[in-house]
Order: sequence, then C-alpha cells, then structure tokens
Amino acid sequence: MRVHVILPAAGLGTRMSAGHSSTTAPKQFLELAGVPILIHTLRAFAEVPRVAAMYVAVRSNEMDRVAAQIRDYGFAGKVHVVTGGDTRQESVQHALDAIDCDPDDIILVHDAVRPLIDAATIERTIRAVEKHEAAIVGLPAVDTIKQVERTADGAIITATVPREYVVQAQTPQGFRCHLLKRAFAEATADEFVGTDEASLVERAGGEVAVVLGSPANFKITQPGDLELAEFYLQRQPAHR
Ligand code: C5P
Repeated sequence: MRVHVILPAAGLGTRMSAGHSSTTAPKQFLELAGVPILIHTLRAFAEVPRVAAMYVAVRSNEMDRVAAQIRDYGFAGKVHVVTGGDTRQESVQHALDAIDCDPDDIILVHDAVRPLIDAATIERTIRAVEKHEAAIVGLPAVDTIKQVERTADGAIITATVPREYVVQAQTPQGFRCHLLKRAFAEATADEFVGTDEASLVERAGGEVAVVLGSPANFKITQPGDLELAEFYLQRQPAHR
C-alpha cells in the first residue's frame, strides 16, 4: 500500500490581490518566511516516510516557475507537475489521471495554500483512511452556526444548526484510490462539481471519517493571512 499526494495549486488567488497589488504571483507562490508557500507544503508531506509520490497541479503558464522551484528546493524527481483545470475539482482530476495506483493505495489531497499542515496530522489521516477507507481533517465549529437565505437585502437567518453537528472541512482529505476514482467518475457523469473531494465521495455512498485539525492549518486566502501564517510558523517546534 502506497500513499500518493495531490496538491491542487492552480487557483488564481484573486481574493489575495487587494493586499498584494504589487505582485502578480498567485497566492501559492507568495513567500512565507522567505520560502514559497508551495514549498512549505511540499516539505510537510516529504517529512512523512509513507508518502511515495507527490503531484502538484498548476496553471500551464506557471509550469516553468514551479519546475524551477522544485529543482531549487531539492525536490527534483520526487514531485510530478501536472496541468491544473478551471476548477479545483478539475485540477485534482488531472493529477488523479496521472497516478497509477493500486485499488488499496491511499490518495491524500491537500490544498497547496495550507502550508502549516504538520506531519503528525498527515500520519493520523493516513491511519484513519486505513481504518475507514476515507477520512478528512476537520475543525469543530466554535461559533454558533446559522443557515441563511441570501436576499437582495442581505442574509436572513432561516435556522440555527446545532454546532455539535458541524465541522469545518480542512485538508488533507484521504481516500482509498478505488473509492476516489469511482467518486470522480460518478461526479463527472452527473456533472456535479464540489468544493472538496469528500463531497464527491459522500454522494458516491462512501462514509468519511473526521480527524481533528488545527486552526493553524488554515487556507491562506485573503490579505492579512500571510502575517497570521508567519505567526503560526514561528510557533512550530521544527521551524520550516
Ligand atoms: O480557491 P480555493 O481557495 O478553494 O483553492 C483551494 C486550492 O485549490 C488552492 O491550493 C488552489 O490553488 C487550488 N485550485 C486549483 N485549481 C483551481 C482552483 C483552485 O488547483 N482551478
């Protein structure tokens, strides 16, 4: 049983641009403590001995830049670069198509823009997939959760969702290869587009377990997030 990692990194990062108008770099190429975000993420997975291969999906005009970074930071031969798609799901699909996996192999999908993932959480996710076939990292909700209806006048609350029934989905999201491939095939056939892999597996009838995540494993999305990530990075025991 091998573990393959997919890192979708083909987003445009448009929400980031307000605070970084001087740079045209998509967020996954911005630097955290002088090192590109994508490289921090690759380093975290490279720390896990059971990870056999890593696949990064990037936009076609970023292929050269990523290939150079992979070389410069010592990942040559260990990381495959594939072309991303118009949606995150399409980017993951392209990487999935490039992976030659046995049915019981494990595939972990992780947002390239969550560079503060740690090896212990990755290991726990792998163990949970071995036990349950599918598992994602999730964070219990601490705020009270409201369901709303969007109106021209703004959001109107329609229900309060008991927060013990809610977790915020993070990544990595891990699955047996046969299950993830079937879930993607069914989603494509039904023209379903989800914002994470678990939603595809859920609709394919898979039971997905949740592994406890951490607030540090957040998705760098908007201006200010880089500063927050630097704060968390300084607190990590093995400062990457
Ligand atoms: O856009 P969002 O914040 O959900 O992106 C999550 C991850 O998916 C990011 O790492 C981003 O680069 C990636 N992505 C992708 N292809 C897209 C859109 C997003 O690989 N078309």
